[in-house]
Amino acid sequence: MSDAERFHREQIEYWNSAGGERWVTQQAHTDAMLVPITERAIAHAGVAKGERVIDIGCGCGATTMALADRVGREGHVTGLDVSAPMLAAARRRGSGRSNITWLEGDAAAVPLPEAAADLLFSRFGVMFFGDPVRAFAHLRRSLRPGGRLAFVCWRDFDENKWMKVPLTAAYQHVPKMPKLAPEEPGPFAFADAARIAAILDGSGFATARIVPFDLQLDIADGGGLDRACRLAVEIGPASRALRDYPEAKPAVVATLQDKLRPYLRGDTVPLAAAVWLVSATAPAD
Ligand SMILES: C[S@@+](CC[C@H](N)C(=O)[O-])C[C@H]1O[C@@H](n2cnc3c(N)ncnc32)[C@H](O)[C@@H]1O
Repeated sequence: MSDAERFHREQIEYWNSAGGERWVTQQAHTDAMLVPITERAIAHAGVAKGERVIDIGCGCGATTMALADRVGREGHVTGLDVSAPMLAAARRRGSGRSNITWLEGDAAAVPLPEAAADLLFSRFGVMFFGDPVRAFAHLRRSLRPGGRLAFVCWRDFDENKWMKVPLTAAYQHVPKMPKLAPEEPGPFAFADAARIAAILDGSGFATARIVPFDLQLDIADGGGLDRACRLAVEIGPASRALRDYPEAKPAVVATLQDKLRPYLRGDTVPLAAAVWLVSATAPAD
């Protein structure tokens, strides 16, 4: 098995076990915290009434439902994800909506109607393919000629203080995780804009635009310092680092009280976040 195949399989397994279960548990907080990114990403995608959209790696369905509101009853959104637990949560939340179909499958390989979609959208769901060129080429074939791709992904780890501060605190108490190779799938696999451009070019997309968006994320959800500290160990890389060391959580939370106090503003704890807003089109042949 090639490295790419192994990476891909490991991701599918991860999102169907610890990774997926943690996202389901933390879904309400994650969705609330990510609202500014969701709104910006959907605006950037220019979603219109009546469009047919595929939400790639839709997870627990927040963006799928927001897209369904935009396309209206005459439009349609397919929420596609490989994680059974996350898609089950999405189905529960989106039940009764006639303009959504939930599809469990690997976005890199699942059969999709050819040349049928107007828009491929994703909020942080496209950085986990072992062979991204193949995966994006497969997804592109589901777009009509002239159809759009629009997704949001994380920039460099160091620019994302909302993840870096909690992980640095965790590393005072637990061993460091192995460093990922630059090509390895993961949350920061698309941090390099040149790599994104090369992947999109290699998979047959045209006119790629990759623009930075900087913002502050309130990791406390308006709930003050204690809540920020508790939530910070449940999501993002810090939660991954603590996966095998749950007994270390109270110590990490205590360390975070000191590390996060300087960021406290009223009941919010805003920390820097940095993403790419990426768009491209499927060439009209
Ligand atoms: C970081 S989560 C983001 C979830 C969701 N888009 C959100 O913003 O809440 C990444 C998502 O990508 C999904 N994913 C990873 N690899 C995938 C694949 N090969 N095919 C479909 N979905 C995949 C995961 O199951 C997970 O739901």
